[in-house]
Amino acid sequence: MTKAKITRRAALLSGAAMGAASCASAPKMTPYVAVSEASGGVFAHGVASGDPAATSVVLWTRITPVTRAAIANVAWEVAADESFTDIIAKGETQTGLSRDWTVKALAEALSPGMTYFYRFRLGGDVSPTGRTKTLPDGAIDQARFAVMSCSNYPFGYFNVYDLVARHDDLDAVIHLGDYIYEYSREGYGGDQGRALDREHEPPHEIISLADYRRRHAQYKADPASQAMHAKHPLIAIWDDHETSNDSWSGGAENHDPATEGSWDARRRAALQAYYEWMPVREPDMAPEAFFRSFSYGDLLTVAALETRLMARARQFEYSEVIPTLQTPEDVAHFRDVILWDESREMLGAAQLDYLDRTFRNSVAKGQPWRLIANQVIMAKVTAPDLNPHVEEAQIVELEQQWNEARAFVKMSALGLPLNFDAWDGYPAARERFYDLAREANAGGMIVVTGDTHTWWANDLVDKNGGHMGVELGTHSVTSPSPYRKEFLGGMGAEYALLTNRDNKDVRFLSGEYHGFIDLTITREGARAEYKAVDTIEGGAYNAFTHAAFDIAREDGDARFKDMDGAGFKDRYLFDR
Ligand SMILES: [Fe+2]
Repeated sequence: MTKAKITRRAALLSGAAMGAASCASAPKMTPYVAVSEASGGVFAHGVASGDPAATSVVLWTRITPVTRAAIANVAWEVAADESFTDIIAKGETQTGLSRDWTVKALAEALSPGMTYFYRFRLGGDVSPTGRTKTLPDGAIDQARFAVMSCSNYPFGYFNVYDLVARHDDLDAVIHLGDYIYEYSREGYGGDQGRALDREHEPPHEIISLADYRRRHAQYKADPASQAMHAKHPLIAIWDDHETSNDSWSGGAENHDPATEGSWDARRRAALQAYYEWMPVREPDMAPEAFFRSFSYGDLLTVAALETRLMARARQFEYSEVIPTLQTPEDVAHFRDVILWDESREMLGAAQLDYLDRTFRNSVAKGQPWRLIANQVIMAKVTAPDLNPHVEEAQIVELEQQWNEARAFVKMSALGLPLNFDAWDGYPAARERFYDLAREANAGGMIVVTGDTHTWWANDLVDKNGGHMGVELGTHSVTSPSPYRKEFLGGMGAEYALLTNRDNKDVRFLSGEYHGFIDLTITREGARAEYKAVDTIEGGAYNAFTHAAFDIAREDGDARFKDMDGAGFKDRYLFDR
């Protein structure tokens, strides 16, 4: 078996900063040293705000109790100025052991589109000052977001959070999930955690309420996380690791009821800790029904999806599917019939109903854009055939990290989806979502996606070839990409190129660096800058723009601008 070689030119391009609107010259690097001082004393977990509305916002902190009292009253205040001379709202909130001493207050009667400052007080102790912003009302020129995901504490320093904290004019931070990870010190990221002295607390995999609370406390004690939260309001959705890897409505890949108890109990514990420790509103319906929307004046609505715990059907796994695919007919049957089973749900009826109302309200307000905060890749991505490119030794090496590796490489020859945990594993549910958007006349759809620790720019296309919008996939705060150069025995960048070349809807794909998407939306268009940091192995880092894309509205539809002209795919030259 000969291994196809990628030309030096293409391999170099994969690691270079490139984008439709960026040039091929070396990116401009800006050096920073991340904040290293965390809050101490009573407010050792910092302050945060989130789930903004036009006249209210959630304020959050946690107190570290010094007495044996069961409850405490924590005062909070919101001001128009940083020196708190102009107090706009104040109140008192009770906390205690029953909610792990976390404090959540809803500041109300605020004005739309305003920046506010807030702080907490317990006796003579005063918290650090946080800054937040309400949703704008009426006519606005632009909205700007930092979009991020996958902040795994042991994998590295949260320099991406630090970089986001240095931005002044964001409307909100959108965190697309995997805000915490559930693994033990021996699990995913364990080696890096030991090397960087960032090992998980508690040391074991988190299962109980006490475990999830301790894990959240560790992440909130991080100084860069505190800086980011203190600076901007958060719009968060969860992905799987806030509960457990590859979770679905009835379980998770990383949950064994025989040794870890019932999934229901674990999910309840995870969500209780999540609602205690995150600056978010709690749903009226079930705790799993964590879908919301945020309206930005006459410009856009952010629809925040829940695709894990409410309705999702169980994922197919490569190792269980492969043995059933003996003939080309088997493959076709799996691809066209089994995968397309109508009962394979992602959003569920209640959420679809909510989205329908949300989209219709947005269209009625004359908003040109719908921004969808989404967990897993929505675009169609077929696995490229890796068999001609990967040698046995590389598979063996990969199996050390990923037990599905052999089945995955074998399956990659069959023209099936790359990732059954993504929307590709639920194509009928994806069409239901597209149909709903089309029927509500909700064009201008920009989907932002986490989960893969990889940069993407994708076209969203329905089963009949209709263009539905664009998808921007963000890299991670720290988690590693399967497309980074050193993956697949040093073939990660080639794997990215193959995936890009073989999927016409994938316009850009890169596993390099870590970072966030700096997304600015105006009436006329949107610009997505993929802002990267060059290292997470220490607090000193360089920041630069890895790629940038412009999005225009054409006949109401969101489309990448000037990307064809950039001749992206022509640059990928393969020796066969
Ligand atoms: Fe992740």
